[in-house]
Amino acid sequence: MASQTSVIIVGAAGNIGSCITHHLLASGSNQFKVSALTRASSRSVFPEGVTPIRTDYTPASLVAAFTSQDIVISTISTSSLGDQMAIAKAAIQAGVKRFLPAELGMDTSSDHCLQIAPCTFLKKDIIKYLQQNEDKISWTGVFCGLWIDFSLTNPDWPWWDIKNKSFTVFDDGNTPFETSTIDNAARAVVSTVLPEHFDRTRNEFIHVHSAVYTPNQLLRYLKKYTNTTDADWKIKHEKIGEMAARGQKAFQEEATSGAPPEVFTKSQKFQGAIINMISAGLMGNGCVNQFGEKTGYWMERFGLKEEDPEQIVRDVVVGA
Ligand SMILES: NC(=O)c1ccc[n+]([C@@H]2O[C@H](COP(=O)([O-])OP(=O)(O)OC[C@H]3O[C@@H](n4cnc5c(N)ncnc54)[C@H](OP(=O)(O)O)[C@@H]3O)[C@@H](O)[C@H]2O)c1
Repeated sequence: MASQTSVIIVGAAGNIGSCITHHLLASGSNQFKVSALTRASSRSVFPEGVTPIRTDYTPASLVAAFTSQDIVISTISTSSLGDQMAIAKAAIQAGVKRFLPAELGMDTSSDHCLQIAPCTFLKKDIIKYLQQNEDKISWTGVFCGLWIDFSLTNPDWPWWDIKNKSFTVFDDGNTPFETSTIDNAARAVVSTVLPEHFDRTRNEFIHVHSAVYTPNQLLRYLKKYTNTTDADWKIKHEKIGEMAARGQKAFQEEATSGAPPEVFTKSQKFQGAIINMISAGLMGNGCVNQFGEKTGYWMERFGLKEEDPEQIVRDVVVGA
């Protein structure tokens, strides 16, 4: 690659895109020329040093945006994953060298994932397409589990709410699940494109994490650092198998509606189905969010450290 690598981020002002942008800009020696693909209608604001490139997501505008880019990092919103195939196709047409699709959650590389959360076809189809085109482009898929700090502070994760003291316990509360802080996940993404790792991360799935929790353990830390007891919390219970089944039913109804994926995947019902299926997966359904020993290899190479699960919760609660 040229001495300065051109990287364009889809969603550079988003929850994780902003953090990835920060770490790219901070990676030193001016090695990355950073651009942001942003919708014509967007109000996103980008930091100094980032060149915004507007798009209407038509193939022609995507190809124009990606021309002369070495790397495309997609952190497009979950609600717009149906647009990712157009992004991948344009990246290939524009001659991009590396594409990082928006994975960044549970391990969608297992076939099992499609059974328990059929909505993951949105992610699996992209990887399959990239694999079929490895003579034209390379790819890297990063799995990092649930964004733990985000889940404790953002209403997009509807199961836990520190402010209103509500908490959902899944099954018996003892199933472990993988998590990353957004910062650690963003560092992992940026590590994959650093010159020293670029060849090794070609066409690879990469597992990283910050800490493993169970729901019961997480609730214990929350009570400790909010100085509360069970009596102060509205504790709800969900069975992950039932949540997944609810999501799968709604998914089937939408997927057989006759509308194309880029349309039906944006419906409110489909988005609700995604929340149920993905939340169940992230909480242990099908073991697609239990990475076991897979994190060690890449974390060691990237110099990423495990984080103290209790410290993460304390930092979130104190900073909330
Ligand atoms: N592991 C987890 O816990 C977890 C949680 C959430 C998401 N994720 C994964 O991470 C990816 C990125 O999620 P995120 O939460 O960082 O994304 P986000 O902040 O919700 O959105 C990122 C960007 O997507 C762009 N976008 C394009 N079309 C859009 C549309 N129709 N509506 C809204 N935004 C649109 C926007 O950029 P412009 O406004 O600049 O166009 C937006 O800033 C997701 O695709 C998902 O795979 C993982």
